[in-house]
Amino acid sequence: MRRALIAVLGAATLFLAMLVAAALPASAAPGTLKEAAAAKGIVFGTAAAQNHLGEAAYTETLNREFNQLTPENEMKWETTEPSRNSFGYGAADQHVGHARSQGMAVRGHTLVWHSQLPGWVEDISSRTELLDVMRNHISNVAGHFRGDLEYWDVVNEAFLDGSGARRDTVFQRVIGDDYIEEAFRAARAADPGAELCYNDYNIDGRNAKSDAVYAMVQDFKRRGVPIDCVGLQAHLIVGSVPGDIQANIQRFADLGVKVYITELDIRMQTPPDSAKLAQQADDYRAVTSACVAVAACKGITVWGVTDKYSWVPDVFEGEGAALLFDDDYGKKPAYDATLEALGGDPGGGDGGGGDGSVTCAYTRTAQWGTGFNGRVTITAGGGSVSSWTAVLTMNSGQDVAALWNGRPTENGSTVTVKPAGWNSSLAPGASASFGFTVNAPDGNVSDPGLACDTP
Ligand code: G3I
Repeated sequence: MRRALIAVLGAATLFLAMLVAAALPASAAPGTLKEAAAAKGIVFGTAAAQNHLGEAAYTETLNREFNQLTPENEMKWETTEPSRNSFGYGAADQHVGHARSQGMAVRGHTLVWHSQLPGWVEDISSRTELLDVMRNHISNVAGHFRGDLEYWDVVNEAFLDGSGARRDTVFQRVIGDDYIEEAFRAARAADPGAELCYNDYNIDGRNAKSDAVYAMVQDFKRRGVPIDCVGLQAHLIVGSVPGDIQANIQRFADLGVKVYITELDIRMQTPPDSAKLAQQADDYRAVTSACVAVAACKGITVWGVTDKYSWVPDVFEGEGAALLFDDDYGKKPAYDATLEALGGDPGGGDGGGGDGSVTCAYTRTAQWGTGFNGRVTITAGGGSVSSWTAVLTMNSGQDVAALWNGRPTENGSTVTVKPAGWNSSLAPGASASFGFTVNAPDGNVSDPGLACDTP
């Protein structure tokens, strides 16, 4: 099939672009999450995986946007003490080194949890022995990082949904109710400078489970058990942010502990579309605003840098797209909403680096048996750009039949796209998009490759 490449520029689109350009404020408001959060006196962090730190776009996004890091898996018991009294910290040390080199705070995650727990711990059946083993683990791990971490998730997910009863774990069964307070005492002794948190999911709003955690924290504060903070994980679903999240944060704050949103992600049925992304943006705005509104809420951590590596699709089939950056590190509407809720300006600020860079994101907007439509969005980083180039790599049997809002040049399977003209220069954080139609007579409708750069 003959390839036809058509650049279309409509007068209505041009008018819209001019309106958008005219609306961009010339403001000094912070242009990154960490800068905006810092101006509010809170941290904005992410979970990170050590095995992705070698990926340039991953690390550039991590360093540019976040000032707090939580190792996603590398400090868990199965990694730090895989066999009894044999400790290893290689990947965790790399995380801490990276965070320190970037001026990021570090949240240790997590000392006592029923998951990612080695089998040898599960096999212990004596209270005295398991208490010794738990204290030894905390003493070694928190002791290793003593002075290096700002926070520890000391105990993770000890309560059940619904009833708020204690979860049936080896610690609960063999040691009993007091394992949690014993863990906090051991953590305080091992690292007196770290804030010690209890961390759980589905305690973001008021319910039986958050009531049970509230009662425990209240009891700990009364009896002097060393607890400093509560982590609301906030693994949420689009459209389902609890309406009372701010009131719930406030009631914990009123007990005299700090509150952190520790593992925020807001998942949707994939693929994303503009309506779901808009709802997700509203949801991120709601969670961020709730934290900002309560003085004792001192930080927000999202559970991953990019949708590409999120845990969600592995656990919830057909769901994902839960984070602030898409698979190509493009900023999603939720990013802008979060930044705005922090008092930042998605179109302003100096961005703290990355001048002149762009990121790009691909979205499939329609599909049929022998073809599909796609859209590419190019977003400027912390500095303005005067132009951009996107490169699509088509798959076998695919032809670009039409392309609009861009000027394409083809070379074999590579289609290089330059701006249409009016959408060439971008203010910091601003975006331009082009769309295209692909014919695939053989039925190969797999997504094209995408890369972008300046000029
Ligand atoms: O490292 C192995 C690798 O060697 C192996 O080839 C591969 C095969 O499946 O598995 C890899 O381990 C995976 C590990 O993540 C590291 O990637 C495990 O299978 C996988 O189960 C594990 O998932 C983690 C999950 O906790 C375990 O419960 C997720 O990455 C992590 O995001 C998730 O984080 C938890 C928080 O710690 C606590 N709150 C809930 C949150 C989401 O589940």
